[in-house]
Amino acid sequence: MTMLQVSDLTFKIGSTQILNGVDFTIEAGETVGIIGPNGSGKTTLFNCLSGFHIPSGGAIVYQDKSITKMKPYRRAELGIGRVFQNFAVFKEMTVSENIVTALESRMSPWKTFFPWSKQNKINKQKALEYLKEVGLEEKAEDKAGSLSGGQMRLLEIIRTLAFGAELFLLDEPTAGVSPKMKEDVANLIKLLMKEGKTIIVIEHDINFIHKFCKRIIVLDVGRVVLDDTPENIRTSPVLQEVYFGNGKAANG
Ligand SMILES: Nc1ncnc2c1ncn2[C@@H]1O[C@H](COP(=O)(O)OP(=O)(O)OP(=O)(O)O)[C@@H](O)[C@H]1O
Ligand SMILES: [Mg+2]
Repeated sequence: MTMLQVSDLTFKIGSTQILNGVDFTIEAGETVGIIGPNGSGKTTLFNCLSGFHIPSGGAIVYQDKSITKMKPYRRAELGIGRVFQNFAVFKEMTVSENIVTALESRMSPWKTFFPWSKQNKINKQKALEYLKEVGLEEKAEDKAGSLSGGQMRLLEIIRTLAFGAELFLLDEPTAGVSPKMKEDVANLIKLLMKEGKTIIVIEHDINFIHKFCKRIIVLDVGRVVLDDTPENIRTSPVLQEVYFGNGKAANG
């Protein structure tokens, strides 16, 4: 089944063309990496997919529905989960509450209205199970703001899972994360894959995405210049050109 189809997507800010006709299709259950130099339009593409930007042209179809102009919260309800390049956890809430609120957002408010309700107990239990998956159960009652950068990344991703996402848009999930934590993020992505989720991950480190992506899309100046296996991408002269061509310095 096709999960996402992006056709001739363009995006302009003022007179600056940022996306120049992006085309690709993602099948359900695929894990696809997106790489490209700084400023090539990767985050902008995610902004268009999640609804923070309305494209200037082209179309986005998600599970057979046109979502090109749909509001962000409606896309989230349909299962598009965005994890930001900068942290977005609720820092003043506890780690556990971060997950509980995501679970609650999927149910009628009446179910969790009374603090002693059965549903509240179930949600708390579930939150702990999610936290166990990423080794954060001991931090459950700590403020989320006290977590390390890497731990916040993990929390953000499992919160998106608890919210019910089917398509995960991960924007540089390992940026500024320690090598050990990078391994944890990789394991979490593998867990999402095992659960049959569809994942698009923006990443500068091709060695990192190589671990779990069978397909990589390379963006340059707002268009897809390569869409192939990691092996073919690595040895492609186009990749050399994108990163080292025109006397430009290498990025990432
Ligand atoms: N709100 C904005 N106003 C003006 N220009 C913008 C805006 N957002 C992005 N741009 C420009 O669009 C281009 C693409 O930016 P984008 O953030 O999508 O790149 P990126 O590939 O995610 O880069 P990075 O690897 O650094 O995260 C850049 O030239 C950027 O300066
Ligand atoms: Mg970016």
